[in-house]
Amino acid sequence: MSNPIDFAHSQRRRFYDELWQFLRIPSVSAKSEHDADTERAAEWVRVQLEDAGLEARTYPTPGHPVVVGAWSGAGPDAPTILIYGHYDVQPPEPLDLWNSPPFEPEIRDGRIYARGAADDKGQLFLHVKALESHLATRGTLPVNVVVLAEGEEEIGSPNLVPFVREHRARLAADTVVISDSAMFAPGLPSLLFSLRGLAYFEIHASGPSTDLHSGAYGGAIRNPANALAKVIGDLHDDDGRIAIPGFYDDILDPSPETLEGFARLPFDAAAYTGEVGAPPEGGESAFSPLERMWTRPTCDVNGLLSGYTGEGAKTVLPAKAMAKLSFRLVPGQTPERVRELLEAHLASAAPPGVELTLVELHGGRPWLASLEGPLFEAASSALEQSFGARPVLAGEGGTIPIVVELEEILGANSLLLGFALPGANMHAPNEWFATDCFERGIDTLIRLYDELAEL
Ligand code: BES
Ligand code: MN
Ligand code: MN
Repeated sequence: MSNPIDFAHSQRRRFYDELWQFLRIPSVSAKSEHDADTERAAEWVRVQLEDAGLEARTYPTPGHPVVVGAWSGAGPDAPTILIYGHYDVQPPEPLDLWNSPPFEPEIRDGRIYARGAADDKGQLFLHVKALESHLATRGTLPVNVVVLAEGEEEIGSPNLVPFVREHRARLAADTVVISDSAMFAPGLPSLLFSLRGLAYFEIHASGPSTDLHSGAYGGAIRNPANALAKVIGDLHDDDGRIAIPGFYDDILDPSPETLEGFARLPFDAAAYTGEVGAPPEGGESAFSPLERMWTRPTCDVNGLLSGYTGEGAKTVLPAKAMAKLSFRLVPGQTPERVRELLEAHLASAAPPGVELTLVELHGGRPWLASLEGPLFEAASSALEQSFGARPVLAGEGGTIPIVVELEEILGANSLLLGFALPGANMHAPNEWFATDCFERGIDTLIRLYDELAEL
């Protein structure tokens, strides 16, 4: 057999079996009880890359290992692509909301259900199988390839920047290719022009030295939970704008062409949010829902902790309260600057009797594609041949922290093409990946490597 696409189709059963092996490994990066599993997933990826015909190594880091695979047989005149993906997954909890166990993959109604099926094991696997299909049939690849797979994306990639700096020579590439996002709609692929950044904090409020009887002390002291609730409430004004002085100052507005593109997309905001049981409300009222998700920053409470939350009532004034607070950032903003602004704001917002302290968890800068013609044309062609539709340009509200860093350190441009579908339940119970996208995804990537060789 000489055609990589025919090969991939003939090997489908085995590809599914191997994906099942991968999805069964509970590589939850956030939980140390899964450290051995996470390491096992790294080793599994390394062996897969070797079996596909690449040279592959796992590198230990202070956290989870990095896997690097390489194939440079296309020679110094051919371009080099770096394929990035992550083999770690989010915690599967709450388990009782899953219809099948998160680490026992199952196909129902044309969907592969498992934690990591879409984010990002399933999509990383597409690249491995596309590489294998080329090498197994032609004995060669049209481009030189470096595969970089990390196990800490879901916890903010704390060890990857130093790794990339240290190994920049080994990772050198002309183009970065990432499949860790979604298509715009079923049958309608997309190329991303942006990712939002992230700045994630905890705010700790502390008051009296101990929890107190709320009758004996109520009215005499300030309750840190009340104080924190007010601080959080005051973070937005009535129009949904973030009320931290200076917060919007550095933002670079999207181009008029970008905004005109949004109007042409087949997007029904009420249907999009209706599917999750909510109206499209709550963001900045002066902007459309797509603008709010793709081009505007947000500030959201991700968790709250204080006082008595068990069964029944307990009359108590808590000594402490805590909020987990994250900001999605857009071009012009940085996690460092947001931290400074938030710190200054909290210093002036803390009422007498309550102390507020800020702890930074992790962050990532926003990414904006350099919409380079030939790169996007190559990807569009591969997507169109495989899905029967030309891709749309789309923004993305989520974050992949390493993208900006990879571009800067390696001096490369990135191509972000993802194969999940909207509503794939990434990070949520019942995560899924459509079998149709899985199969067409491999075809697309096989074609993409050929197209990239022409650049
Ligand atoms: N793959 C996602 C980012 C994403 C989500 C892209 C949906 C496109 C559509 C990535 O794994 C992710 O979850 N990123 C985190 C970043 C973090 C933990 C630092 C995010 O966006 O919350
Ligand atoms: Mn991901
Ligand atoms: Mn994720």
